[in-house]
Amino acid sequence: MQTRSIELELNGKTCSRTVPVTQTLASLLREGFGLSTSISCGEGNCGTCSVLVDGQPVRSCLMLAVQASGRAVKSLEGLADQLPRLQKAFSENHAIQCGFCAPGFMIAAASLLCSNPKPCEAEIREAIKGHLCRCSGYSGFVSAILDAAQE
Ligand code: FES
Ligand code: FES
Repeated sequence: MQTRSIELELNGKTCSRTVPVTQTLASLLREGFGLSTSISCGEGNCGTCSVLVDGQPVRSCLMLAVQASGRAVKSLEGLADQLPRLQKAFSENHAIQCGFCAPGFMIAAASLLCSNPKPCEAEIREAIKGHLCRCSGYSGFVSAILDAAQE
């Protein structure tokens, strides 16, 4: 199996690993670093595996680990400063039912609020498009992110 050494900034810390060239970033985060990054569809369809790469939301099941070399990656664990207000807003707006989609929506919301602290509804809908929720619908997420933006 062909491998390559990579170095990346993961949740604020410089890390290095030797990885198979075919390993996805999602797999590296879960199996190499023990993080909670979810893998559901594994094909780029659901958004639940999203992480931030250089501040931008990325589906980590579609990105190779070697492509993360030299870049700054943040998983949910790296967003501890933002999670409490998001979790509170998601809960109060009943945005989440089964929780399948929650990690992806959290990453999308955190990314949006970082670049645009007071987004309008249209901007929120644009930020969460492509994240699939099969049970709660999307209006709860929109309301939750609007609420989180007020805090
Ligand atoms: S697991 Fe990556 S988009 Fe679904
Ligand atoms: S809450 Fe179940 S898929 Fe979104």
